[in-house]
Formats: sequence, C-alpha cells, structure tokens
Amino acid sequence: MTSFPRPAEGTWTEHYSELGTAPISFQDSISPEFYRREQDAIFRQAWLNVGRIEDLPKKGSWFTKDIVAARTSVIVTRGPDDSVKAFHNVCRHRGNKLVWDTKPTQEAQGFARQFVCKYHGWRYGLDGSCTYVHQENEFFDVDKDKLGLAEVQCEVFAGFIFVCLARQPQQTLRDFLGPMVGALEGYPFELMTERYSFRAENNSNWKVFIDAFQEYYHVPPLHTYQLGPNNRDPNAEFEGAHYQLDGPHRVVTTSGSQKHKWPVETMYPTEVLLRSGNMGPWDATEFDSELPGINPGGVKRWGIDNFQIFPNLEVLIYERNWYLSYRFWPTSHNTHVFEADLWFTPARTARERLAREYAAITVKEYALQDAGTLDGTQLGLESEAFDEYPLNDQEILVRHFHKSVGDWVAAHEGTAAGASR
Ligand code: FES
Ligand SMILES: [Fe+2]
Repeated sequence: MTSFPRPAEGTWTEHYSELGTAPISFQDSISPEFYRREQDAIFRQAWLNVGRIEDLPKKGSWFTKDIVAARTSVIVTRGPDDSVKAFHNVCRHRGNKLVWDTKPTQEAQGFARQFVCKYHGWRYGLDGSCTYVHQENEFFDVDKDKLGLAEVQCEVFAGFIFVCLARQPQQTLRDFLGPMVGALEGYPFELMTERYSFRAENNSNWKVFIDAFQEYYHVPPLHTYQLGPNNRDPNAEFEGAHYQLDGPHRVVTTSGSQKHKWPVETMYPTEVLLRSGNMGPWDATEFDSELPGINPGGVKRWGIDNFQIFPNLEVLIYERNWYLSYRFWPTSHNTHVFEADLWFTPARTARERLAREYAAITVKEYALQDAGTLDGTQLGLESEAFDEYPLNDQEILVRHFHKSVGDWVAAHEGTAAGASR
C-alpha cells in the first residue's frame, strides 16, 4: 500500500478533494429518523467488533454482546474444535433470549458445554445445533437438525472478533478492513493480555463521542492539566503528524516523546515516582520483531497511531508498546454505551504493575474530561441554533467520518430500493 507524507502544498483536507472544505451539518447526530436509518444501513450491515480472542480463553468459553442498534444480542462461542462462531441469542422454540445471567438486559460470559433455554428447556451445542427438545414427541414433524440457532457471520482479524448481521455480507472482513487497517495483521496484539476495562453510559449520539477522539485540536484547551505541571498552556498549538483515509476507515498519527526521554521537570511527581505518564509506562516492553502496520505515514518521531475503524471501533497503538481500544454502541439517537480497554504485556514486577495502573487511571481521566463535554455538545446541536459548523484541517477525520456514515446509509438505501423495484 502506498502511504504519503504531508502534502507539499495545500492541506490534508484538500488532498482528499471529495471531502470538500465547506462547513458541515450535524443533523446526523440529532435526528431520531437518521438514527433509524443508521440502524439498518450500518449496524445491521457492517462488520462490528464485539470482542477480543482473549474473551474466549478456552474451548467452551462464550460471551454475549447486546447490539441494541441492530436490535439483537449475539452469543459468541469457542467450540471444541477451537472455532469461533456467533449466533443470534434467541431460542428457536418461541424466541426467548437464550443466554443471560442475572438479567436478560445484561451481557454475560462464561464456560459451558451447552446452552439451556430457561423457558422450556431446549438445549443447544456450542456449534448452535439443537441437541434436546423437551417432550419432543408432543411436536408435529419436528426435525432437531433444522432447529439450530441462527448463525451470524463471524471472523477474527488479529485477535479482534467481528460479526456481521447481514445475511449476505457485501464484503469479507479483510476486504472491508482494507489495506491500511489490514496491514496490522501481524502486530503482536496477542502478547498484550493484561487488560484494564471501563464502561460508561453517555448522553450523546455515538458519533459525537467518536468525534471527540478523532482530533487533537481540543487537547490544549480541554486537557490542559495533562500537559504537565509546568506546561499548562490552554493556548498551546497542536499539529497532527499524519492523517490518512482508506475507504470508510481513517488514521491520525501524532509525534512521540522518544520513549521516556522527557525532562522530569515537565512531569508530575507521581509520574516520576511510578515511571508512567504522558502516554503509558516509561519502561516499555521491547519486541524483537518489526511491528507491521504502524506509522503508515513514516513519521520520524512516531508516537501514537489512532486508527478509526468504521463504524464504531477505535484502536490506539502507542510507541511504548501497548494499545487501547474504544467501542461506541448507540442505544438511541442521543445515548450510547462507551467501552474502553487498555492492553499491556503482563507486568513482571510490582513497579511495572503500578506503572500500568497509573496509565489506566490517566486514560480514564482523559476520557472523563472528553465525556464531560458530551451533554453540552448534544444539547447545543439539538438546539439547532446553526445549520452547519466549520471544521479545520485537523478535524479532517471528523469530516470524513460523517461523510462515510452518510455515504454508507445512502448506498444501502440505494441497494435496498434497487432490490425492491
Ligand atoms: S422459548 Fe426456549 S425452550 Fe421455549
Ligand atoms: Fe480528548
């Protein structure tokens, strides 16, 4: 795949002429009607990341994922043959939600040899086959072989488990991810198994929060205190090192700190004590091999790649050899669930463990600051005081994201209209 450096002339945005530079409308973030269209066109059509292979640690492991925007829940299993499969979490008998733990409205995970419906006791194997119908002879011409669970397309890429709810996916997962994201295939995600997770229910459209993570223009004013004790300048200027678009996906790369070579006087005392801060533990795990897929722009002092994988997954890969994933799950036109996971190689000492813990609370603090603007932005947009809003060159990914969402909806509706003619 060809990458390109900063355009010699003009701007990042102008480099992608199809984006234009006009102000954009955020109607797509406030309209209940548009949300219904996104549900059908995006959440029931696109490949969606529902978990990591580490969520299925052994044969018989399973987890459920409620995809409210697609009006379903899926069960993801690792079968006796180690294959990963997904099914609608719905009993074939009378439609009861098959697998849940304390409440049907909550996700669950565990280990099982089979699933038993809580209603009338039908049973299913991890491969979705129906293995037991209670009082089978009371039924009329039933054939258990035809009463399995409804399978959902499921593929694994670099340990990320994706499902696609379309009966006939338009593309394979690899084709959908395209060359830029696909190049991460050999990145050693599997070595990073120490995980820190958090989850929040937010009062904004899902795209409003994604937008808060796909530009760094807001960092000096909003995250001023994260800049260090002697560097709290809300007017500091920020420049992204590289922006790249590929199909509906996008990346922004920032420059790095050359590992932990920052002068300690620019750090907080707790950061110096714990040897962690401003983007992760200082004592980074070194990997022996090349790290494929990162730094597609060939930035000299590479720091972070922020991959925005359509529609709702973000993967941030750091120069200190750890990564972060965010997923954004709409629950209505102005609410969503936010899931964040930090992944590190396992700590070998107490000091390493503390450095990772400190990185996790730092990320949480950043995210809370970002989330703090959400209600205000959603309320502001819903007031419809303005029809459109200006975006600068550093907000190219915001511009591209909203265009991609609009294009995806239009394409799906075009195909559906064509099919019904
Ligand atoms: S609905 Fe599941 S066994 Fe009846
Ligand atoms: Fe932020």
